[in-house]
Amino acid sequence: MKIGVVGSGIVGRVLATGLIGCGHEVMIGTREPERADLVQWRHAHEPHASTGSFAGAAKFGELIVLATLGSATQDVIEMAGAANFDGKVVIDATNPLVFYDDAPPGLSVGWNDSRGEQVQRWLPGARVVKAFNIVGNADMVKPEFPCGPPDMFIAGNDSGAKAVVTGILHDFGWNVIDIGGIEGARVLEPLCLLWVNYAISHKSRDHAFKLLHR
Ligand SMILES: NC(=O)c1ccc[n+]([C@@H]2O[C@H](COP(=O)([O-])OP(=O)(O)OC[C@H]3O[C@@H](n4cnc5c(N)ncnc54)[C@H](OP(=O)(O)O)[C@@H]3O)[C@@H](O)[C@H]2O)c1
Repeated sequence: MKIGVVGSGIVGRVLATGLIGCGHEVMIGTREPERADLVQWRHAHEPHASTGSFAGAAKFGELIVLATLGSATQDVIEMAGAANFDGKVVIDATNPLVFYDDAPPGLSVGWNDSRGEQVQRWLPGARVVKAFNIVGNADMVKPEFPCGPPDMFIAGNDSGAKAVVTGILHDFGWNVIDIGGIEGARVLEPLCLLWVNYAISHKSRDHAFKLLHR
């Protein structure tokens, strides 16, 4: 499948590389398609990798991954052109983080709304699925833990879109738990804060979530 990854940070590059490893063609979208680290990434994965503008990647993708800085997501969608997302599955991996000098990060939206729901509103023609936001980038692809695969919680309104995203997550080695509609992002985005708080307090990034049940 042709996949546009809108966002060139570590998450965009990790997911793009993982998707190429699963046989997909990927274009990373950025303001700087010829930036040295992106040119290096492109050369390492040619002919399956390309770089372009945010709009170029959104147009290219049959499926689109959003991996932008949380505070820039709405601007990036505007630059990418909302119409370029119409009818497509959109994986929202972003978190609406707010950073402070003397405290762990918080969220700029929550409890009665979420970034996932905002993205669905900003992209009314797209089928948005929240995924990947609850784990550090080092474990997004092929997570290896002694107790087996961790759980990736996903949320979205379109069951067909969630089936596509579940397929990608299975290819990446995740167990998947569908928690329902996109309003589920209201609980998934705070879960990112739990991941980050634990990372800070335990000086470790070697953790992921698993739901226990009987
Ligand atoms: N880091 C993690 O382990 C992790 C884990 C789970 C979820 N997340 C979430 O995933 C998202 C991406 O995280 P990241 O760490 O890869 O990178 P990031 O630094 O949060 O975001 C990088 C992307 O945001 C774009 N960007 C930044 N400022 C912008 C602005 N003013 N206008 C337009 N675009 C702007 C950059 O554009 P250019 O391409 O032009 O530079 C780049 O594409 C975030 O929402 C984060 O919360 C991160």
